[in-house]
Amino acid sequence: MIQELEELRKKAESELATAGTEEEILTLKTKYLGRKGLLTGILRNISNVTPEQRPLFGKRSNEVKEELSARIDAALEVLAAKGADDALLRERIDVTLPGRGVKPGRIHPVIQVSWEICSIFSALGFSIAEGPEVEEDYYNFEALNIPKDHPARDMQDTFYVEDNIVLRTHTSPVQVRVMEKQRPPVRIISPGRVYRPDSDVSHTPMFHQIEGLLVDRGVTFGDLKGVLTSFLKQFFGEETTLRFRPSFFPFTEPSAEVDIQCVMCKGAGCRVCGQSGWLEILGSGMVDPAVFKNVGYDPDEFTGFAFGLGLERIAMLKYGITDIRLFFENDWRFLDQF
Ligand code: FA5
Ligand code: MG
Repeated sequence: MIQELEELRKKAESELATAGTEEEILTLKTKYLGRKGLLTGILRNISNVTPEQRPLFGKRSNEVKEELSARIDAALEVLAAKGADDALLRERIDVTLPGRGVKPGRIHPVIQVSWEICSIFSALGFSIAEGPEVEEDYYNFEALNIPKDHPARDMQDTFYVEDNIVLRTHTSPVQVRVMEKQRPPVRIISPGRVYRPDSDVSHTPMFHQIEGLLVDRGVTFGDLKGVLTSFLKQFFGEETTLRFRPSFFPFTEPSAEVDIQCVMCKGAGCRVCGQSGWLEILGSGMVDPAVFKNVGYDPDEFTGFAFGLGLERIAMLKYGITDIRLFFENDWRFLDQF
């Protein structure tokens, strides 16, 4: 029996020496030391050993068991340590490699244009006012002399949030909010996002406008022309040719749209200006007395002018961009040019 025990020990040790994986080692453990294992089995047969030999056999089998168990644990530990080393090698970072550059951000071209226009008007004594993008029907339409069911509502397709709440279709509601809170003189410009269900190469569902409003005693159409001419020449260049063209807005009377001579073809006619030689830049007019009445201004005491322009439009002209949707794709290669 002792002979058998020693043979078993040798066999276990040689098998352990060739076991390379955790799974193999654990299988060995069960094979020899498990409840139905070979060593356990030998101990169970202790009754076959002569009484004189029993103490020795018992002692020796316990030694073999402990030894084998210790060797198995050691083998498992070595394996675990090796696994950790391999992982460290595999995941090693080469700290001498140059870093991957982080591209610097850019101010969006539409915002650049907005800042530029704001600074021109600041120098003319205008201050900046802001209003909500989710707006009451009253401010977006009714107070601006566009009652419900009035055909002029069709001029601006509208996103309705609720019956009387809209995404503002223009920045003109800010005029009303400012005049409600402030007595003349008023000189404000108001940049911001506006929304219309519209989409093609020159229209997007969200775009930006800047609104301007000046109210005081004795303001005339001549002031409107003077201020807008000064602004457009500063922005597009002193040699820019302008044209004031009669138009209609429910909240201004009289109204005018302002065109500049096409910046691409200098008036000769091209694809950008639709062969006309002119580009529409903004809508404007003298504030309608009905609007003054809605905000509690006396139209006999005060007059004023207002204007509104699309910022994407201006940015497209300034930079020669032919598709408005490029502004909203956030393609770094496009934005990096400004
Ligand atoms: C207005 O929105 C008036 N509130 C402007 C105004 C203000 C007139 C004060 C008088 C006094 P209009 O709907 O024409 O007007 O829009 C003004 C500009 O917004 C247009 O000239 C155009 O450049 C731009 N625009 C209109 N719809 C879109 C769109 N879907 N995408 C991009 N730009 C647009
Ligand atoms: Mg228009």
